[in-house]
Amino acid sequence: MSTATSPVPGYAYGSPRLARAPFTTTDLAALQKALLFTQEDVEALRQSKSILADQTDAILDVWYGFVASTPELVVYFGDAKTGQPNAAYLEAVRKRFALWILDTAAANYDQAWLDWQYEIGLRHNRIKKNRTDGVDSTPQVNFRYLLALTIPITTTLKPFLARKGASAEDVERMHAAWVKSVLMQAILWSHPYVKEGEF
Ligand code: HEM
Repeated sequence: MSTATSPVPGYAYGSPRLARAPFTTTDLAALQKALLFTQEDVEALRQSKSILADQTDAILDVWYGFVASTPELVVYFGDAKTGQPNAAYLEAVRKRFALWILDTAAANYDQAWLDWQYEIGLRHNRIKKNRTDGVDSTPQVNFRYLLALTIPITTTLKPFLARKGASAEDVERMHAAWVKSVLMQAILWSHPYVKEGEF
């Protein structure tokens, strides 16, 4: 899908205009090994897709509620001049965030996915933050919070995984796979924050 044809502005997964990721599918396979991320996790993520598909709005209410009630985080959605949260920015990102939930659950790890991960990392970093939505906000999301958010995002997801009658064992499997996948993505998004040659 490209930004030109996507009904969600700025969503560019699969766009040929994206830069090629500086990490390869071989790098990803090695990272997955280090994360104990296996085919079982791929299957668990895919199982979660139909469970989460009609719950993305409710999930985002919880995630956005967490960010909104955490001043140290909401500042990254703030207007550069007034400091007030920029509602249009929050809403534009929210639409792409909903698609990200489904993309994470789809667990298709090809070059297009790697390139999109690289782009999402750039969008958190000063290299590209604010550009997609044309906003005047804080210049970057500080690195330390990127990895930290893995925990609230996956902890608050768990009840949604349990809401459609999956067995307790399957809920645990899906949750574990989500923790690994979100951490894996946050690590890939870290690339622009890491000194050249040290990623
Ligand atoms: C595991 C951690 C995180 C995940 C999974 C996550 C997820 C996402 C996703 C899916 C997008 C939309 C990307 C796009 O399609 O353009 C996004 C953008 C954004 N996120 Fe995060 N995020 C994380 C950490 C953080 C943190 C800690 C903050 C700080 C509040 C933050 C603030 C933002 C902002 C401001 C944008 C918009 C960036 C832009 O201007 O394009 N994110 N995030």
